[in-house]
Amino acid sequence: MLATSTPTIAAESVSVLHWWTSGGESKAIGVLKDDMTQQGFKWDDFAVAGGAGAAAMTALKAQVIAGNAPSAAQIKGPSIQDWADQDMLVPIDSAASGWKTELPPQIDQTMRAGKHYVAVPFSVHRINWLWINKAALDKVGGKPPATWPEFFALADKFRAAGIVPVAHGGQPWQDMTVWENVVLSQGPDFYRKALIELDPKTLGSQQMVDVFTTTRKIQSYFDKGYVGRDWNLATAMVISGKAGMQFMGDWAKGEFANANKVPGNDYVCAVTPGTANGFTYTVDSFAFFEQHGAKQASAGQIALAKTIMSTSFQEQFSLYKGSIPVRLDVPVTKFDDCAKKSYADEQSTLKSGGFLPSLAFGMVQSTVTAGAITDAVTKFMNSSEDPQAGVKELVAASKVK
Ligand code: BGC
Repeated sequence: MLATSTPTIAAESVSVLHWWTSGGESKAIGVLKDDMTQQGFKWDDFAVAGGAGAAAMTALKAQVIAGNAPSAAQIKGPSIQDWADQDMLVPIDSAASGWKTELPPQIDQTMRAGKHYVAVPFSVHRINWLWINKAALDKVGGKPPATWPEFFALADKFRAAGIVPVAHGGQPWQDMTVWENVVLSQGPDFYRKALIELDPKTLGSQQMVDVFTTTRKIQSYFDKGYVGRDWNLATAMVISGKAGMQFMGDWAKGEFANANKVPGNDYVCAVTPGTANGFTYTVDSFAFFEQHGAKQASAGQIALAKTIMSTSFQEQFSLYKGSIPVRLDVPVTKFDDCAKKSYADEQSTLKSGGFLPSLAFGMVQSTVTAGAITDAVTKFMNSSEDPQAGVKELVAASKVK
């Protein structure tokens, strides 16, 4: 007798390169893994540790050169177009009907190369946040600082109480985070002219000298061990109360949440001094790579894109990650007060023009120009260069194409 059996189709393996390795980040990407596994796909995780993804981008290049591009890789901003220009990406249009109205226009645009969607966005992270330990704040009788003088007054109080005023990790992208926040504190127009338009007059202005002066002063409140420290270890210092404050995008909130800390009770999220009418953002996205010469996206790639943009995933991912959903039609009712503030400020700054792509997080300028500016800022942070010299290097860096 002939045995009849249903032929088994091997489950498609979806390989995913990303840099989400901290406690909160792992929980968030775990939602996607579970979802994809439930849909019958095999999850092939390629996580490369290193905040903000520099190491992940190096690993991605090596994989592509070896002819082993992942199904999807965490890539953002203008570099999505760079990979598309090299003919490496596949269109995922069939997953993207409706995105045009579901996404903020700036973000919808970033996910496309020419006429096609080639990447899918996860969530909106706000960069201009200051995280403050609540018990430490109460101990010194302080309040969240709205201006730089208030910030320095609070930092002095922390120092006097034996608390590290500012938890920081001396890595180029973290240095950029601090500096970019000071740029934004000069107003959204100044930020736009300086970092989006690269206007030489603004970049070379006395106001920019003041930015470097303030950055130098903030640096004097870091502890001795800050060089090379990972961002989540700096966040852990604020969680434990060893440090008072940290400048960091709201993935830091994913760490607080993962440690069962509640905003308002255990910590405070405040917009960084002088930036109430600005919202610097970064949007994580996955770009889809051509697999074995196929010009069409695979079933797994389409499922990945659809899942990431599904309303249920959008909600759960951001609850763990600290961000807000990138889809404008996903309610934030289940979210904490920081996320609600982020959402409200997103809405108002989208109208006012204060919704601004972060240079520090690869949302504006080419990798080459952004890299040169990062080098200038890092050099300043790691030397005793004076603010005027910092500005000179910045102006030169802005011309590197
Ligand atoms: C990403 C975040 C990530 C952070 C730290 C940023 O570039 O946008 O998703 O949590 O880096 O790794």
